[in-house]
Amino acid sequence: MAHEAETDESARADETRDVVTGADGAPAPQGEGSAEPFQRRVVSFVRRSSHLDDRMQRMWDENAPEFLLSIPNGGRDLSVDPDFRFTTGFVRREWGNDHPLIVEIGTGQGENIAAAAARDPQTNYLALEVYDPGVAHTLLKAGNGKLHNLRIAQVNAPELFAVMEPGMLEEVWTFFPDPWPKMKHHKRRIVQPALAHDVHEALRAGGVWRIATDIDDYALHVHEVMDSAPGFVNDGTREVSLAVEHVGKGDAGRAAELPHAMFRESERFDGRVLTNFERKGLDAGRTIHDFTYRAV
Ligand SMILES: C[S@@+](CC[C@H](N)C(=O)[O-])C[C@H]1O[C@@H](n2cnc3c(N)ncnc32)[C@H](O)[C@@H]1O
Repeated sequence: MAHEAETDESARADETRDVVTGADGAPAPQGEGSAEPFQRRVVSFVRRSSHLDDRMQRMWDENAPEFLLSIPNGGRDLSVDPDFRFTTGFVRREWGNDHPLIVEIGTGQGENIAAAAARDPQTNYLALEVYDPGVAHTLLKAGNGKLHNLRIAQVNAPELFAVMEPGMLEEVWTFFPDPWPKMKHHKRRIVQPALAHDVHEALRAGGVWRIATDIDDYALHVHEVMDSAPGFVNDGTREVSLAVEHVGKGDAGRAAELPHAMFRESERFDGRVLTNFERKGLDAGRTIHDFTYRAV
């Protein structure tokens, strides 16, 4: 466990270097033929060294056998073996039923997915998170709440979507993804056309991808990726004005002077509890952008 949750401060401080990393977060070898393609992808997180304190380690050890999925990783920490298939059969074996499955990408401390699992025992929930402390807190919530419909997988989420059985998911949630504010880091934002393709494949017809962000520039990014994503319709019902050019870190104030256009977004998803990320956005006076993209 050599990495820790990127707190909102550290994520938003954005002090990472612009490197292409392997699935394990280490700089990928750049020499010709020195890495397979899936090792060279740009990932949406950086690894930091850390350890769990004794109490959290104990909680992890107690709860992991029931709630932490073992996903083949092809020998690469946080990765998913491209030959593995995440199927309805796997879900039936792990959850013990055929209930609808909702997946949250980047669950942080697990507040949302644990609250949803407690509220709705007839739905299965899967939390995807890379950082040990976030996984540990989610395991703790699952154990304390006896949330037998919740599982956690500690994987780089896009890699799991790449191996999912088509049409198997009810919903996908991505709330307050790491903003990667510097222009040169926008490519690290987790909402990307390739993930949109894989999420679309994994959703049943009529299933939805719910996204929320408090960063206007990320909202523009979501519209750019998703409003034209093949097979999705934007279910939004409210009109929101956004600058139509990107601004980088420290430059957000300039957005007001840029040309604006109207975009369609959703009302706040009432299935979402208020986490620190949303609260901090509200306290800072930022608009919360909610999106609902329906697979058709
Ligand atoms: C800003 S936090 C938001 C957490 C939570 N959704 C909330 O609203 O409180 C973003 C989370 O996404 C996780 N994350 C980033 N990239 C990820 C990836 N590729 N796979 C899984 N989790 C990822 C980070 O570790 C972090 O915990």
